Amino acid sequence: MKQEQKEKYSIERAMDEINIKSPEVAKDHHRLEYHVMGPTGWINDPNGLIQYKGEYHVFFQYYPFKSSWGPMHWGHVKSKDLVRWEHLPVALAPTEDYEENGGCFSGSAVDNNGELTLIFTGHNDNKNPKEVQCIATSTDGITFQKYEGNPVIPHPPVDGSPDFRDPKVWKNEDKWYMVVGSAKENKGKALLYRSDDLREWEYVNVLAESDQDQGNMWECPDIFPLGEKHVLIASPMEAKVGRTMYVVGDMNYETGKFTQGYYQKMDFGHDFYAPQSLLDDKGRRIVIGWMDIWGAKMPTQEKGWAGAMTIPRECKLLEDGKVAFLPVEELKTLRGAHWNYSDLVVKENQLLNEVRNDKLELKVIFDLEKTTASTFGVKLRCSEDGTEETVIGINAETKTVYVDRDRSGNEVTGISRAEVNYDGTVSLHIFLDCSSVEVFTDEGRTVLSDRIYPKEDSLGVELFVSEGQVTFTSLDIWELKA
Ligand code: FRU
Repeated sequence: MKQEQKEKYSIERAMDEINIKSPEVAKDHHRLEYHVMGPTGWINDPNGLIQYKGEYHVFFQYYPFKSSWGPMHWGHVKSKDLVRWEHLPVALAPTEDYEENGGCFSGSAVDNNGELTLIFTGHNDNKNPKEVQCIATSTDGITFQKYEGNPVIPHPPVDGSPDFRDPKVWKNEDKWYMVVGSAKENKGKALLYRSDDLREWEYVNVLAESDQDQGNMWECPDIFPLGEKHVLIASPMEAKVGRTMYVVGDMNYETGKFTQGYYQKMDFGHDFYAPQSLLDDKGRRIVIGWMDIWGAKMPTQEKGWAGAMTIPRECKLLEDGKVAFLPVEELKTLRGAHWNYSDLVVKENQLLNEVRNDKLELKVIFDLEKTTASTFGVKLRCSEDGTEETVIGINAETKTVYVDRDRSGNEVTGISRAEVNYDGTVSLHIFLDCSSVEVFTDEGRTVLSDRIYPKEDSLGVELFVSEGQVTFTSLDIWELKA
């Protein structure tokens, strides 16, 4: 290990930077209230999601020194309830030669008889191979020791390529399993490994690979049982299916193969990538994604920070074979002031004078039998002069739900859309948190996550309708506070 690298990055240096910069960053009005963010600087993928000694831990790809990507550290927060998060010291800094040029890339966490073990990719562009799998352990869940025998997987297998990253580890019966994202012959791959002790790994085979629509490289693969099936999630590159996908299928531990069935895009918004899952002691499978994406405009970079995670979403296998992603129950504990309207017929746009807030939960049910309008819905973060608004609507002609952020404020634009399956009624469950909107519909089959950057005083809520009238069977709005 070169002395310079050790001096360049360390947990201490990262913490000094955070202590100096985070008070100023905290003042930005686009900071979210109940979502995970870095204290300062840049974050991307959620890593190491785990419930350890009863508390939820989220680690994340982190560069504290700038609000753009740089050599990766692992940031760290924990929570008792998935909605109120406490910052902990940076868990990993790139100090070793196997991570010298790139850092500690994405990975996962397991509880190995009380020892919290992080499994991550060491990335060094100057080395061949550039990506290797490594581990670090902790007994207090705060300070981590990198294993002296790293890397535990020093090169990709024959079925992989130098793109060989993002290990997700889990236990099945008495063995550890790891899936690693890779690419070969223009197909994304999830490569399967097996181990008795997390240190010696045996390559099994290709667990799953792309069909014609699933891209040429898979980042951040994760596989877990759900109901009678298994679900594989991944963030494929250059894929027709979208930037993230879930695949429902069957796992065979004898052959080490996952047989694919139904699959689809995981989130229809602009800002969702690299989701990862955890299993908690209530038996829930929960996913959290990065609520941004490569290439997105991030106007908060000027304020010294960028990136947030989604709210935690519980996965459920539905009878039609699709997966529902639903906001975790604990979010209800954030609810404050409540407004309820029922059987509301709206014939022209109507500003709700009583509600002005940038942190809201809304549950909306529309009665389509009593609706003649072609488009209708709610607008959030509306400015008084009418120049800013974020529109969450239903287009009854195309049977789509959409989030229109063409007037959402600074820099970001574009409409995200998804087809919805409904008859009679359609409901939307919406979470607004300063600079984010997450919309759940069709019983969780469809989710849209979008970042928005309105002015601080754009706080209005408006019901809107065009060409006809809309009937709200019910509309519930809560102020949220962490
Ligand atoms: C996904 C990703 C991972 C990689 C990490 C680097 O967003 O590209 O594949 O480990 O980000 O920060």
